[in-house]
Amino acid sequence: MRNTIGCDGNADPPLLAIFAALDERTTSEELLARIDRKRVPRHVAIIMDGNGRWAEQHGEHRMMGHANGVTSVREALTAATELGVRYLTLYAFSTENWNRPKEEVDALMDLLVRTMVKELEELRTNGVRLNAIGDLDSLPESCRGTLQQGMDSTAGNDRITLTLALSYSSRWEILRMVSDLVGKVAQGSINASEINERTVGEHLCTAGMPDPELLIRTSGEQRVSNFLLWQIAYAELWFTPVLWPDFRKEHFFRAVLDYQNRERRFGLVSEQVAPK
Ligand code: FPP
Repeated sequence: MRNTIGCDGNADPPLLAIFAALDERTTSEELLARIDRKRVPRHVAIIMDGNGRWAEQHGEHRMMGHANGVTSVREALTAATELGVRYLTLYAFSTENWNRPKEEVDALMDLLVRTMVKELEELRTNGVRLNAIGDLDSLPESCRGTLQQGMDSTAGNDRITLTLALSYSSRWEILRMVSDLVGKVAQGSINASEINERTVGEHLCTAGMPDPELLIRTSGEQRVSNFLLWQIAYAELWFTPVLWPDFRKEHFFRAVLDYQNRERRFGLVSEQVAPK
């Protein structure tokens, strides 16, 4: 059996498996050193998925999956901050998640509140500005209050903006934007002919933020699930089979390395894209 790299440059399957195994062992420091700091995405969005499956695999209650997911939130935030990412947006609770059993919804809200209370001081002292998008009025009072307190006390920070998408879905956001714009046209404060991509962007929950250049989704699902549909028009999508509670800094670094190895063309031909 051939087990060398052929003259076509392709390695045999056994060698590929060895390379893959060696690559798996690359430490987060080694990965970090490979990242070009001048081409780090400004905004990374993450669909945190697989908490339930993680819990099932570990013979635990679903809530243990969510609770362990908090460690991964910390890892993603640390990795993003170390790289100089300016915006990290996490899909923490979708509009559809309200349809889960009440016990799970209540426990998730409780986990969010406890996590915010516990982590707030660290967010504040590490330059993290807390932000939230979604139908925040639909959240329980305790969650809204804690969130508001967190946003107020970190409002002066500007190292990184951590946005939690809560009771969020892109279709809800787009409907709200359409209704806002229609209302303004009816009042005469805006002309229908003036509506363009910029005006639309200004009426979305993410107004003032750059669009995400990189969208990560864990757990092996390859869908965008009603998340930032307008904003990810040109984002690179990165899917990993890793379940969210197992997500660590090195996964974040690998996603950014893959992003840097892709050619972003924005509908242009290769030659028109500025050299890297
Ligand atoms: C999806 O996994 C995850 C969620 C619906 C909730 C995410 C929440 C956390 C990670 C908790 C802490 C968050 C913050 C921001 C402090 P799933 O339950 O859909 O998993 P499954 O598809 O395997 O069932």
